[in-house]
Amino acid sequence: MANDPASESLETATLSGVDYKTHFDSKIFLENYHRDESQFIDKLLEMLHELTAAAGIRDGSRLLDVGSGPSIYSVISAGSRCSEIVCSDYATQNLDEILKWVNGDPDAHNWQQCFEYVCSLEGKSDEWKLRQDHIRQAIKLAVPCDVHQDNPLTPLVLEPFDVITSSLCFDAACCDESSFRSAVKHVISLLKPGGTFFMAGVNGATFYYVGNKRFNSLPLTDEIIESAFADVGLTNLRWHSVTGDIEKYTFEGLPCDFSEVFAVSATRISG
Ligand SMILES: C[S@@+](CC[C@H](N)C(=O)[O-])C[C@H]1O[C@@H](n2cnc3c(N)ncnc32)[C@H](O)[C@@H]1O
Repeated sequence: MANDPASESLETATLSGVDYKTHFDSKIFLENYHRDESQFIDKLLEMLHELTAAAGIRDGSRLLDVGSGPSIYSVISAGSRCSEIVCSDYATQNLDEILKWVNGDPDAHNWQQCFEYVCSLEGKSDEWKLRQDHIRQAIKLAVPCDVHQDNPLTPLVLEPFDVITSSLCFDAACCDESSFRSAVKHVISLLKPGGTFFMAGVNGATFYYVGNKRFNSLPLTDEIIESAFADVGLTNLRWHSVTGDIEKYTFEGLPCDFSEVFAVSATRISG
């Protein structure tokens, strides 16, 4: 693989914050982490599928995906009943990558395997193309986002959403527990009372690589997440997680130190 970091020397300086705008290479990230054979992404898709099935999302809902990166896999399940999906990220090169996919650019990443997998989990294997078409037309916007702002979508002011999804973003965006708690508060301010929040990712990681570039990760735990959720009125938590046999979910040539793969859903208390 051209961008396999094993073939280059891994940098030791750790990037974070504003570095995402200048050093996060969307294409290399997709090549590294969104390989068709990835058991890691399949596990996240399985967990999000289970949680979505239990959540009962209403037809015509509006969904915001926070810290989308160049990826759309995290909205394949929850977005199935949504008529409007807004993707968002801190780094505009990622938004460009999403728009390429929405517009059917031949250079865009191919998400077919993820659509096929989610539809097979739903027992509708033959409907993956329909789902892909639906998600493509439902993504109305790909906009800048910063979870550290009171309104993460500043300068946009959008109506609160029925559903918010976020994968592998908070641990990348936050440098300590206090900034994590604030970021959750900012993001949940965009969720309607009674709305559903899905968060997926890894716990325990202190870093991850994109190509040979090392990025900071905040080592979260289930307890930190539960406490931050309770503070902002998120209730009815449902968890799926794997902590054993974790090597199965790692990527050859990409050093990492996470200890758990998880997804959690929660409801914002009404009123
Ligand atoms: C590990 S990537 C995950 C991307 C994607 N959600 C996925 O699962 O493939 C982390 C993402 O968080 C974004 N990010 C970093 N800081 C952020 C911030 N302050 N606000 C919103 N997103 C941020 C990065 O630009 C990057 O796209």
